[in-house]
Parts: sequence; C-alpha cells; structure tokens
Amino acid sequence: MRMLTIALTKGRLADQTLDLFEKIGLGCEEIHDPHTRKLIFENQNAGVRFFLAKGPDVPTYVEYGVADIGVSGKDIIMEENRKVYEVLDLGLGKCSMCVCGPQEAASLLQKNAWIRVATKYPNIAKDYFYNTRNQTVELIKLNGSIELAPIVGLSEVIVDIVETGSTLAENGLTVLEKICPLSARLIVNPVSMRMDNARISGLIRELDAVKKF
Ligand code: PRP
Repeated sequence: MRMLTIALTKGRLADQTLDLFEKIGLGCEEIHDPHTRKLIFENQNAGVRFFLAKGPDVPTYVEYGVADIGVSGKDIIMEENRKVYEVLDLGLGKCSMCVCGPQEAASLLQKNAWIRVATKYPNIAKDYFYNTRNQTVELIKLNGSIELAPIVGLSEVIVDIVETGSTLAENGLTVLEKICPLSARLIVNPVSMRMDNARISGLIRELDAVKKF
C-alpha cells in the first residue's frame, strides 16, 4: 500500500488534529513527544506519514502533491488560493476574520472613506474591500501583532482573526465588520483524490464521523 502523506500545521492546531486522526486509527505516538524537533513522522502499519509545516505552507505542499492531504485554516486557504480541493470542515479552531479598529473608525467604513488597512492577509482584505464593499483602500501588509497598527496610527482599521476577542478588548479595539467564519479544513491534492479515491474518500467519511461540532 502506498504511504499517504498528510501535512499538518505546526502549533496549537496540530494536537487537536492528531486526536481526530488517532480516533480513526491513524495515530502516531512519537509526534506527541514535546522534546522532539522532528518534522516527519510515520505510522508504517497504518500506511500514513505526517509532515509538520508552517501554516501558510500547508496548501503549497498539497498543491505540489508532496502531501496528498493537508489540514489548514480557512484563513490560509483563502489567502494562499492554491489549487487544492477543500473537502471537509473539521470544526476545530473556530474563529472569524473581521475588520476591527477603534469604534470611531466605524464612520469611516460607513462613508466608504479612503482608509489604510493593516493585515497579515492582504488577499482576503483586498477581496473584501474591493469586491464586497467596493471601497478603495490602502493595504499595509504586516506579519503579526496587527492590533498595534491602529493604536500607533499606522492604519485606521485592521483585517485580522478574532477568536475570544480579548486581544481587541485589551487594546481598546472592537469588531467593526465580520468578513467570514473560519475553522480548520481538510484539503486534498486533486491528483491524489483521483488516484487514491477509495482510500481518501473513506478517510474523509471517517473523519466526518468523529469530528465534534
Ligand atoms: C491571533 C490574531 C489576534 C489574536 C486573536 O494572533 O491575529 O491577534 O490571535 O485572538 P483573541 O480574539 O482570542 O484574542 P496570534 O496569537 O496568532 O499571533 P500574531 O499576532 O502574531 O498573528
């Protein structure tokens, strides 16, 4: 049997995702070792191999077919826009993509004013402002701690992920508009889907049955 390769996002989502794979008999003991720096883990008996990649790179590994399957946040899938099939919502890591800022910025949105938008997600922000809102804005790409931008005056608003809302609250910011809900999704390489259809379809069905909503 050919090894099925699964790319996972390194970090907090990996453990929850692996729990799901364990429930369908595709676990990997070694991967839970907190001291390991390994990036590839195999379960020979189950015929699977896991990669641990940086979030934005997971759809890249899957598009190029070096991973047959991946688990990636909807934010990353939208931002990277890779040629992969999104086949299942795993219901993990639920949060939202939002336009946020100080309450005063709400009127700038209402007026369709020319504003600066700081974000780690320029494609999502561009699509939302240009295609959904028909508003011309200046996009400023940042790499993290996005909430800083409106506080120090780099931008009027931000486009960012909101989970509990505590980062916003602690920095005097608020959700101004909700763009879309987010969660972890299962993605599949289109060629793998055709070549290994029975096995991958079975895996999708089994994960669908064990996931919690
Ligand atoms: C994310 C996001 C927000 C925060 C939202 O940042 O960019 O800053 O989590 O979570 P909350 O609503 O529960 O407060 P992350 O911790 O991934 O780090 P980053 O700022 O470097 O992107």
